[in-house]
Amino acid sequence: MAPFRKSHSMSSKTMQALVFKVQYEAPDIVSIELRPDNPENAFPIVEAGAHIDLHLGNGLVRSYSLTNPGDTDRYVVAVLKDRRSRGGSTYVHEKLRIGQVVSIGVSRNYFKLDETVTMSVLLAGGIGITPIYAMLKRLSVLKRNATLIYCARSRVEAAFVAQIQTLVDASGTDLAVIFHFDDEHGGPPNLEQLLGGYAKDTHFYCCGPAPMLDAYEQACERLGQHHVHLERFEATGIPSEEVAEGYAVELKKSGRTVWVEPGIALLDALIEVGIRPDFNCREGVCGACETRVISGDVIHRDHILTKQEWSANKSMMICVSSCRTGRLVLDI
Ligand code: FES
Repeated sequence: MAPFRKSHSMSSKTMQALVFKVQYEAPDIVSIELRPDNPENAFPIVEAGAHIDLHLGNGLVRSYSLTNPGDTDRYVVAVLKDRRSRGGSTYVHEKLRIGQVVSIGVSRNYFKLDETVTMSVLLAGGIGITPIYAMLKRLSVLKRNATLIYCARSRVEAAFVAQIQTLVDASGTDLAVIFHFDDEHGGPPNLEQLLGGYAKDTHFYCCGPAPMLDAYEQACERLGQHHVHLERFEATGIPSEEVAEGYAVELKKSGRTVWVEPGIALLDALIEVGIRPDFNCREGVCGACETRVISGDVIHRDHILTKQEWSANKSMMICVSSCRTGRLVLDI
């Protein structure tokens, strides 16, 4: 992305980065190449699927996926000019310039690539290509088999088309790509058709707009595929039970206990009493506020953790998740 995740932030661990290159990849998409502001430093290495927070000069913080896994001398993100922008993508397109120094967060990865599997199918919709492109590059380095299905409204609106074709052509038979541009096919893709015919040990990855992710999940379910991974960059309503009562949160490290009233986000209750947890999107999609759970009956509502991770109950996103009853104990 860089799927961008909407935000206002408090992320604490940051590095300084120089805007080294800004380049149009499509009429509404720019890529931003960041380098360490001190050339003697290196960035921490990043995995395919990871994203960083970019602290913008207007006080906003946005999360963007990195397109260049494995590099330590540069980070590259791509940003769509969003017509519904609340300031982030507009700032990047209109104000961010070569030579500026910006703060960036340490990368996080909630969209991990399983590098051990025999076959991976990567599905990208629009600007969702950014983490998927990183995965394709990584699978190319590893010489694994993968098929990329890249969907966009039109070829001209799609970023990295030529680079992807070059990468696939150079890979021999390891990689394949299917481009689906709506204007060339007379409409959106039939995902069940495109995702059909793969062995049951195939791993599937998707990043794109919410309707595509929903269709992707439904198609994988109908096809009986179980290794299904996705990354959302905008929240969709997760149906959740109403909680009529407040609950107490014990903060193990600080030895404090905070009461959370019904209808109040746990994150806000903590901020209210002067605690400063990291946060960013406030929508359960970026992972910045992930907090270790020591005990408690958590109602998970994020879009990051898997159902298995919800059940394991080892951590929670305190911006959207809460406690069903009794007392919650957190490692803060
Ligand atoms: S602030 Fe983004 S997941 Fe909580």
